[in-house]
Order: sequence, then C-alpha cells, then structure tokens
Amino acid sequence: MPPLPAAAAPTPRAVLFDAYGTLFDVYSVALAAEQLFPGCGERLAMQWRAAQIDATRLVSMAGPAHYQPFWALTDAALRQTAERLGLALSEAGCARLMNEYRHLSAFPENHAVLAALKARGVRAGILSNGDPEMLAIAVRSAGLADLIDPVLSVHETRRYKPDPATYALGPAARGMPARDILFVSSNGWDAIGATWYGYTTLWVNRSGAPLDRLGTAPTHTGRSLHDVLGCLPD
Ligand code: LAC
Repeated sequence: MPPLPAAAAPTPRAVLFDAYGTLFDVYSVALAAEQLFPGCGERLAMQWRAAQIDATRLVSMAGPAHYQPFWALTDAALRQTAERLGLALSEAGCARLMNEYRHLSAFPENHAVLAALKARGVRAGILSNGDPEMLAIAVRSAGLADLIDPVLSVHETRRYKPDPATYALGPAARGMPARDILFVSSNGWDAIGATWYGYTTLWVNRSGAPLDRLGTAPTHTGRSLHDVLGCLPD
C-alpha cells in the first residue's frame, strides 16, 4: 500500500489578532511611569501587566457573574502594583497612566502588514480581552480603523481568554472553521489557548521568551508581525 500523504499544512484564509501586547505595546507605558517614578518605570509596567492578566484569570475562573471589564481590571491592577512596589500613586498619576494605556503605541510594522493583508484580500480582525470602548480608541488612535474588521471583544462572553467561549467568537464571526483562521498573539499563553481551540496560530515572540511548557506548541512562531505574511498562501 502506498504511504499516506502527509497531512496538508493549514492554509488560513483570514487573520485574527490579539490586541494588547500583539498590536499595541503594553510596555510603552513604562516611559510615563518612569517620569512619575524615576528608576521604577519598567518594573511598574511589567508588574502591572502581570497583575492585569492574573485578574482576568481569577474572575474568569469564578464564572461570568464575577466578570469585570478589562478597563476596570487594568485600573485595579495598576493600583495594586503601585502599592506592592511602595509607590505613592496619586489619583492624577493613576489617571495619567490609565490615559497612556488608552493610547498605547502600536508596533511600528503593524500598518504595513495590515495594509499588505488588505491588498491580498485577507480579512484581518481583532479578538481581544479588551472591552469594546478601549479597543475602539486604541484602534482609532493607532490609525488602523480602515484595516481591521471586526473587533471582537470578550465583553460578549464575559469569559477571558483562554476560555474557549471567547475563542469561539472568531469562527462564528468569520463563518469558517477555526483552522482556516490564523490567530496571531504575542502572548504565549494566548497562542497556546487558541491552538487548543483549533485555530492555526502564530506566536509573535518579540522578546524571545521561553514557551509555556503545556505540551502544545503554536503552529508557527515568529519575531514580528511581518511573519504573518509567511503563514498565508501567496
Ligand atoms: C488581549 C490581551 C490578552 O488583547 O492582551 O486579549
């Protein structure tokens, strides 16, 4: 009997991006944080992000009744982190840092990659733990509004990624199976969660971080958003 042909590599026809960390640089708040707390900006930014993600996991584990929007969890995580680091965060300081979070810097290659997808006729959207209002502002202020559609938010399911109910929003919105969608995230846990769900995935490992050892690897791994183009048929 002739050998069975190797399983065909998935050829995604659409792309969904994670937002925070993937399209928008969550650590760009470190600059403003450094002005407020010299010598501590980077530490505050890193620990703030970690506390924010911890909070999403806690409320999701407790069930949708305990859901709080990402904006509220981000505010609470900032206050908790400042307290943990012994930093005197005033209301004005908190408002300033939260405003920075509203207008995070986009990674420099985003626009060119999203424009190239549009030129190829590949639809590109967002599937994020952010709430709709903060996502809309981030997309608009990064000048990406014409290049992204749809923007899918956890707010619909009240279950933060990696809950499958939220990954399910993508195939439902696109009307195609998850394996036909390339899900792109810079958060290793998110790339793995999406792989578990059934997406074809790209982990944009910007920092060269080690992979979470959970027995699953993303379909592809890259270093910048440019790698998206190589994961799609020509
Ligand atoms: C998001 C978070 C996980 O945008 O970064 O979904």
